Amino acid sequence: MTSVNDRRLLPLLHGSNRTAMTCLYRCGNACAHPAPNESDNPYFGDLVQAEVSRRGLLKAAAIGAMVVGAAGAGVLGTPEPAAAKPATAPGLSFKPVPPNRLDAVIVPNGYDHSVLVQWGDPILPGAPRFDVDRQTAEAQRKQFGYNNDFLVVVPLDRRGDRGLLVVNHEYTNEELMFRGYVDGATATVEQTNVALAAHGLSVVEVERVRGSGEWRLVRKGSRRYNRRTTAETPMEFTGPAAGSPLLRTAADPHGRRVLGSLNNCSGGITPWGTVLSGEENFNQYFVGGDGAPATVKPALARYGINTSARYPDGSRHWDKADERFDLAKNPNEANRFGWIMEIDPYDPDSTPQKHTALGRFKHEGAALTVAKDGRVAAYMGDDERFDYMYKFVSDRKLRKGSSATDRRHNRSLLELGTLYVAQLGFTSADEIDGSGAIPDDGAFNGTGRWIPLTRGTRSMIEGMSIDEVLVHTRIAADKAGATKMDRPEDIEVHPNNGRVYVALTNNSRRGAAGQPAVDEANPRTGNKHGQILELIEDGDDAAAETFTWSLPIVCGDPEDPSTYFAGYDKSKVSPISCPDNLDFDAHGNLWISTDGNALTDSGGENYNDGLFAVSLEGSERGHVKQFLSVPPGAEQASAYVLDDNKSVVVSVQHPGEIDGATVDQPASNWPNGSFARPAVVVAWRPDGRDLGV
Ligand code: FEO
Ligand code: CA
Ligand code: CA
Repeated sequence: MTSVNDRRLLPLLHGSNRTAMTCLYRCGNACAHPAPNESDNPYFGDLVQAEVSRRGLLKAAAIGAMVVGAAGAGVLGTPEPAAAKPATAPGLSFKPVPPNRLDAVIVPNGYDHSVLVQWGDPILPGAPRFDVDRQTAEAQRKQFGYNNDFLVVVPLDRRGDRGLLVVNHEYTNEELMFRGYVDGATATVEQTNVALAAHGLSVVEVERVRGSGEWRLVRKGSRRYNRRTTAETPMEFTGPAAGSPLLRTAADPHGRRVLGSLNNCSGGITPWGTVLSGEENFNQYFVGGDGAPATVKPALARYGINTSARYPDGSRHWDKADERFDLAKNPNEANRFGWIMEIDPYDPDSTPQKHTALGRFKHEGAALTVAKDGRVAAYMGDDERFDYMYKFVSDRKLRKGSSATDRRHNRSLLELGTLYVAQLGFTSADEIDGSGAIPDDGAFNGTGRWIPLTRGTRSMIEGMSIDEVLVHTRIAADKAGATKMDRPEDIEVHPNNGRVYVALTNNSRRGAAGQPAVDEANPRTGNKHGQILELIEDGDDAAAETFTWSLPIVCGDPEDPSTYFAGYDKSKVSPISCPDNLDFDAHGNLWISTDGNALTDSGGENYNDGLFAVSLEGSERGHVKQFLSVPPGAEQASAYVLDDNKSVVVSVQHPGEIDGATVDQPASNWPNGSFARPAVVVAWRPDGRDLGV
């Protein structure tokens, strides 16, 4: 077990909460460019001054429980309805980890952790041992990819001792992957092919260690489910825009098949046992936008794709390895990324699908739940400053049976439905001054409505075809008058009551000159630390078209008067900044991963990112406690609490990603004492007890 006291502080770390290196590789220097939403759509809804009332409990099925049944149907042959999760949330008893800058993963006293799998570990048969000096694309295609983000463990047996770890690999950072790497212009084609192979997803068989909360890669057996997908894996489009002229290229004249996925960030699980994954900052991989036809340039720009220089700042120059990344030659290729993809981890030979019905934007992830009438709803964030929150509701209903026919039916649910974007109304609009001061009615809160952009195969946006709405969804949402948010990241649905939680991570430009003003849902000027939005559907029904919302948590240093923790005693709350990914534990506690901690120590140095847990119920509501911290430069990218609540697996992404760091001069030595490697960690209690109580 690592404690805070037995680690030294790293000497070198300087700078803002997000280093230039991270900006370059993760999101193509998005912060250095104007936010691409220049629409003049209103961001005050027409539902202002409404009364907010708390809603009763939703009777929707617990999605995590249903996954066990669905997986059982596919893998074990017999469906087994799982027990509902407890309705009450016990407090979280661990002693919080203090803010720190240690080059280690830190967990609370009384807990332990280990590295489950890291970049380069052999996954598929024939994979060589990782060797940073002899890395090849062929090896990387069989090894665990780079920069793990969203993760989930789906079950492989009834006892919960074996499972499939499904992990996104969001992006690559070549400076930390190859010795002597300079930039994309001088990269070798083989290095680029390694990068292509280090993107995508991994599916890895894992097993519990001796009945404990620890997990490891399986050591014996077939490992027949292990799989890698990369930026080159064949995938197919589904839904109304599949086959659209907007998706056609010379290599795919029918617009139905695409090679690979890019920038897979967060994701979700489905009631039928598959995994969803969001393609986020796909814009950064394309060059030649200046040479694209003038007709497509406005759409490219709305998605943050450079149209003024052949090679934008920090370009990866991927066109050297594959000219489909050159928009001057293939102007539609960028339209083939930015989707929600679905992969069946139980079928290693299955073809992943990109679902056009769920729209195209910088998808963070997708959180599925079941509406009262049995249709499924997916909540989705578009992670960009001043972009939007979306919801998809299927046309058809979930079947709870376990036959092959039922499963095939359920696999089609994301192919047709209604795609909505959120417009918020406010109760205290006149009082919002950018300071973060709580309004006189005691809450940042209001009402909202879901504006339909599509219904089935029909466009609901005048002047745009169904294809155009789904491929250029941001433009459709601009026209619909959606509310501009402070970077909607991950969304999760409470397993017991159906309430929806949205991480709004930060927005440095909120309220700046010429930029959208503060509003009640995005109430702080130059928002450095972000907030959590709670959304309650009217009638507690995920298919509702109206809702209420509030901000239970406004992040930052609790001593900062602009913070809010649901009214909880701030002296007992952990400082938290830049909420990103979310998960619920078995008791209904919300676990929050952070990205880009903007809080600093007395010397002005940023604290490391971390994993936090908070109760949302009763007298403990708002009691945020830090459970774990990650090494310098790393993002605590995602966490998944296993169903027995005895283990949490976390993605430690881009450790040591600090300006000037290289393989030879790493800014972090985690996890092996040499150069830094992204890795998945599992944390548990050696005494075998529940994580929280
Ligand atoms: Fe990839 Fe929005 O985090
Ligand atoms: Ca209010
Ligand atoms: Ca994220």
